Amino acid sequence: MLFKTTDEHEALRKKVRAFAEEKIKPIAFDLDQNNQFPDDIVKEMGEMGLMGIPFPKEYGGQGLDVISYAIVVEELSRVDGGVGVICSAHTSLGTWPIFAFGTEEQKKKYLVPLAKGEKIGAFGLTEENAGSDAGGTETTAVLEGDHYILNGKKIFITNAPKADTYVVMAVTTPGIGTHGISAFIVEKDFEGFSFSDHYDKLGIRSSSTAELHFDNVKVPKENLLGKEGQGFKIAMATLDGGRIGIASQALGIGQGAYESALAYAKEREQFGMPIAHLQRNTFKLADMATYLRGARLMIYSAAELKENHERYSAEAAMAKQVASDLAMRITTEAIQLYGGSGFIKGVDVERFFRDAKITQIYEGTNEIMRVVVGANTVGRAPKMKVAGSRKKDGPIAGVRKGEIYKGDPKEAVKKLVAALKKDGYDFTVGIDPNTPIADAQRVVVAGRGIGERENMKYIEDLAYQAGAAISSSRPVAETLKYIPLERYIGMSGQTFKGNLYIGVGVSGAGQHLKGMKDASTIVAINNNANAPIFNNADYGIVGDFKEVLPLLIAELDNGEEKKPAPPMKKIKRSKPRKMAPKEDIYVDLGSGYEYDPEVGDPSQGIEPGTPFDKLPDSWVSPVSGEAKEEFVKVEFPEDRR
Ligand code: CAA
Repeated sequence: MLFKTTDEHEALRKKVRAFAEEKIKPIAFDLDQNNQFPDDIVKEMGEMGLMGIPFPKEYGGQGLDVISYAIVVEELSRVDGGVGVICSAHTSLGTWPIFAFGTEEQKKKYLVPLAKGEKIGAFGLTEENAGSDAGGTETTAVLEGDHYILNGKKIFITNAPKADTYVVMAVTTPGIGTHGISAFIVEKDFEGFSFSDHYDKLGIRSSSTAELHFDNVKVPKENLLGKEGQGFKIAMATLDGGRIGIASQALGIGQGAYESALAYAKEREQFGMPIAHLQRNTFKLADMATYLRGARLMIYSAAELKENHERYSAEAAMAKQVASDLAMRITTEAIQLYGGSGFIKGVDVERFFRDAKITQIYEGTNEIMRVVVGANTVGRAPKMKVAGSRKKDGPIAGVRKGEIYKGDPKEAVKKLVAALKKDGYDFTVGIDPNTPIADAQRVVVAGRGIGERENMKYIEDLAYQAGAAISSSRPVAETLKYIPLERYIGMSGQTFKGNLYIGVGVSGAGQHLKGMKDASTIVAINNNANAPIFNNADYGIVGDFKEVLPLLIAELDNGEEKKPAPPMKKIKRSKPRKMAPKEDIYVDLGSGYEYDPEVGDPSQGIEPGTPFDKLPDSWVSPVSGEAKEEFVKVEFPEDRR
């Protein structure tokens, strides 16, 4: 084997390098500073065929090999790691699974415009509780007639919200672990599919990254990718290829930083000579060249294995780990070579340094890369839990009462205030709304759902009547700037440990919930019944805050000025109420024995999952021997169902 790329590979490299130098390099710093996605550049990349390198010509691609694809990502990233990942996430993650697992119709409809670069692709796997443990996916897809109904949320999705087509993993069969996950092609414009703003990131800032929100999104049955239950394997196989892309991105960033440092070191003179000739620096630069060559060979070798349909999962993981660790090392050393000048914004090594970090994290952290390599060398680790019993830690704020009021807002407000008073809250007393959050007994918190700045008046009025301080979620303080930064609640902000938390228009992102999980009582007001905060709340009202808040403010108003609140006495958290099980429960009144369909009755050979009405007539209470017809159904009130 000749360890050399072909003339065609090098011609492609030359073409992409010229494009990157001419079109991307001059604007790379601006894109980075402005957190701006380069729409025109991406369009031009599509026209040049760079968004469809490894796909057959008949589907709009370039029909080139996987090494060619690696070279394209490498060369784009040599100038701008953000542009590199736009291409990589689009090609490997958003497009490849449709090529590899799609039906002919799906390929015609989705692959062709993606490969031609007319549309942008993305991949939705990661969730708050399913990062490295991708099998912990919680987004659901329920088949109803001709459509699957998707509900849930994805985070950290590269190319969102710019992408047009998303390959999304969701659970179709709960309780059976990774085998219950399926993959779907979801179009940007499907009703109920929305996005967060794109994140403000440390690096790769020219690429866009956002959350995907699914609120009863109707996805046609024919958009199921592969078969039901194949989603996890599709995701894993997709990521194997994606890791070649990220390794190439890291290689490009490292190469760019190396070249920049080399040029600077040859020019900068100290001690009477260019610093490149000071031996310790010569060695640094020599090491960079050496390890870049090593990483490049590993990447091209993994690419060649993929091209030849051989196993390459471990090789791709090895290449990604080596190349990303190297990118971090080289960019650190490159800044060191530049000295103080490398620490100043506008110098490319400063940007490369920030861009490099994510390559050790996404498409599988480098710790997960070792899990993948280990599974291929040592063997897969034995499962700690029985398949399908992946246990969740439960809501972040703990299991709460969960009394959520829907329907007539007047009724809902009355019930809420009565319940709070019963729990011990006295609304004749109040605190300064600017009390530091760490000292506040009660808070009223504005989430992004609050909308325009003028709506903060609702929050102020409610805070006064509820005797609370004012706070917000992070975006309301940081992006909207409605309240000072030192007042927002969240993992990176303030922690609220007082008694009463009232969130208005707060969706309940994990980071926020971690900052308020110790509140004695959590109240949520949100118009989206699927907002995660409701799973973490003691009380909630589903409704428009503009309708609910005036009613709540009036209900709390006793017509008198608030008296100063006495020193805080921590109120005990209330116990969750027993909710109605999915199946009806029947009780034998004589002995109190409850027949639970989820358990069945093993003593009489009744399988778990057998409903009461399917029990044989010969069945009797295992405790008292009472016949089936002597049992009565347990009634749960409507709001516990
Ligand atoms: N190809 C095909 N199938 C695979 C596979 C692969 N590479 N790896 C595993 N599978 C199959 C297994 O054979 C197994 O099948 P059976 O149950 O039929 O035997 C099934 O998948 C489950 O495998 P495991 O039991 O090994 O799965 P696990 O739950 O223990 O997880 C893991 C394994 C490697 C840790 C996996 O969860 C993982 O890769 N985690 C990291 C996730 C990740 O990379 N996320 C990145 C998100 S995307 C991103 O970052 C994009 C971006 O921004 C650019």
